[in-house]
Amino acid sequence: MDNETFWDKAAPKYAKDPISDMDGYNQTLDRMRVLLKSHHKVLEIGCGTGSTALQLANGVSRYIGTDISPQMIAIAQSKLDATSPAQLSFAAQDAARLPEGPHDVILALNLLHLLPDLETVLQQIYDALPSGGLLIAKTGLLKDGLWLIPLIIPLLKAIGKAPYVRKLSAVEMLDLLKETGFVIDEQLTQAGVVPRIFTVARKP
Ligand SMILES: C[S@@+](CC[C@H](N)C(=O)[O-])C[C@H]1O[C@@H](n2cnc3c(N)ncnc32)[C@H](O)[C@@H]1O
Repeated sequence: MDNETFWDKAAPKYAKDPISDMDGYNQTLDRMRVLLKSHHKVLEIGCGTGSTALQLANGVSRYIGTDISPQMIAIAQSKLDATSPAQLSFAAQDAARLPEGPHDVILALNLLHLLPDLETVLQQIYDALPSGGLLIAKTGLLKDGLWLIPLIIPLLKAIGKAPYVRKLSAVEMLDLLKETGFVIDEQLTQAGVVPRIFTVARKP
């Protein structure tokens, strides 16, 4: 099953499930509210059903949310009404094809470990940002969590119950960002069965 089909099928349940680590979510949401400025043009790739976009778009000048899954985007769009920020829009698009910029900040929340072509996407993000632009990401660290999980994922993937997931450690994620050319301004690891690393990476 390809990624788009997997996430399309997952969308209705994803939309209903509660956030698994609400404290961790709020901690990084608060941090992003500080980092995002009113003049910023923001692109969020892998925005899912748009919950975070709806919380952040008010504070910036333009916010585009994209996702590979048309079903995720349809749910995100269904949340828009007359009271939604006018500067927010959604589009179904693979992270490997970034929408036309300019983008001052690119957000990738719970996404990068799901990309088979991660190095290529990181390079495209880097190229799309101006000097001083930010990539803010939260990334699952399969290698740093419970040892059983990396063994189970391929089995679940074989029966269509898990997506592609790259086995990354915190060190590997930080190295990938640095090798692309980014400077790491902030990093924060949140514990869990699959820990996550929140990174603020700046194009020098
Ligand atoms: C774990 S969910 C995270 C959603 C949202 N960012 C959040 O934090 O709740 C991963 C999302 O990435 C999307 N996704 C997976 N592969 C993608 C790709 N190649 N390009 C764009 N989006 C992708 C999925 O459709 C899904 O909505």
